[in-house]
Amino acid sequence: MLSFDDDFTPPDQQKTDALAAKPVQSEAKPVQQAQPAQPVQQAPQVQQSQPVQHAPVSAMTQAQTIAQPQVATQVADAAKPQTQPQQVNSISFAPEEAQGSGVTGLETIAFNAKRLRVDDKRIINCRADLNQLVPFKYEWAWKKYMDSCANHWMPQEISMARDIALWKDPNGLSDDERLIVKRNLGFFSTADSLVANNLVLAIYRHITNPECRQYLLRQSFEEAVHTHAYQYVIESLGLDEGEIFNMYREVPVIHDKDAFELQFTQELADPNFHTGTPETDQRFLRNLIGYYGIMEGLFFYVGFVQMLSFGRQNKMTGASEQFQYILRDESMHLNFGVDLINQIRLENPHLWTPEFEKEIVELFDQGLELEYRYAVDTMPRGVLGLNAGMFSEYLRFIANRRMKQIGLPGKYDSAKNPFPWMSEMLDLKKEKNFFETRVIDYQTGGALSWE
Ligand SMILES: [Fe+2]
Ligand SMILES: [Fe+2]
Repeated sequence: MLSFDDDFTPPDQQKTDALAAKPVQSEAKPVQQAQPAQPVQQAPQVQQSQPVQHAPVSAMTQAQTIAQPQVATQVADAAKPQTQPQQVNSISFAPEEAQGSGVTGLETIAFNAKRLRVDDKRIINCRADLNQLVPFKYEWAWKKYMDSCANHWMPQEISMARDIALWKDPNGLSDDERLIVKRNLGFFSTADSLVANNLVLAIYRHITNPECRQYLLRQSFEEAVHTHAYQYVIESLGLDEGEIFNMYREVPVIHDKDAFELQFTQELADPNFHTGTPETDQRFLRNLIGYYGIMEGLFFYVGFVQMLSFGRQNKMTGASEQFQYILRDESMHLNFGVDLINQIRLENPHLWTPEFEKEIVELFDQGLELEYRYAVDTMPRGVLGLNAGMFSEYLRFIANRRMKQIGLPGKYDSAKNPFPWMSEMLDLKKEKNFFETRVIDYQTGGALSWE
């Protein structure tokens, strides 16, 4: 039996949680502090990083609106190759990213260079070859990759038949219950795209460690599976796709959460952004905390409790089960993020200044406000045994936990969890569901015909 938690924590993760107050990941090997790494090659003309003008912290009032055209422009610019003459060696690429303090993995292959040593590895600003997964330095990252693969699932393995019958029955659900289902599908169906974009377009380039990149690739796929799951539920219920997928541009409480997150992605996706200075390394950490701690650690949890509450009342059982699997994945993402943030902090203690800590606490406070507004908007009245007031306490409880996991002082230590059933339900029912209702015989290439 797991000890109480607000989310499902696989047994192997509990060690991490037990050490939450310490900024050191328990499974990580002792870190060689700032050893001058042996560069595998001379990076072509390493330029000084340009500090980036970052968006003001007060995203709730000043974040760019999602509909603004410059968002798309920025993303397009980030993907646009900047052709520069490159030194041609035995094999060459054209890595504009090599301008930063760390390497990207696209550098010209340094033929016959000195072999990689484990102590050369660092999470950010590493100057060693990024294309060699082993020797492992951060075994916690590799273990999470393996655990995530063992948890593989696909949305279409879960029957939606009972949900469809209930949804089509005019007396099957109340208007308030229908509102919750639609709002959550509206929020999550685009939120996971925002998370995936952040992984692929923003943080991957700046993570200079192959073990962690391996996990990020797995996580990216899982985010695609989650978007697939929401699409599958939306299609199964016959909902208006335009209404659901546009909610982040039409429903203020959803827009505001996403705009808050998008500022972090926009900042790092700027092709002129490079880690390597205290300022930009803090911006990078801020992104990780904004996504792993606040998006995946806070903004998902009103919806998770609501959708799992349906399942507890034997309603919308298919959708509820989809959310159970997603919650299990998200719990792993969160735990990886905590380890990542703590390892960067361990390797770069100068980044964690009192001013930075204050900034992060303020971000959590903003996140709390935004998520509480979401709770009020989705539950104008009590429903499913829940009401918005319960979430005021719950959100402080989990925000406190997230902050302590990354070494911040507890700000809401007195907050209690009104939903202790969250972990129990996941812990017990998941195994049952997993073996009784899933089709685990995967088809590989089953749609192909060779005749
Ligand atoms: Fe996700
Ligand atoms: Fe996630």
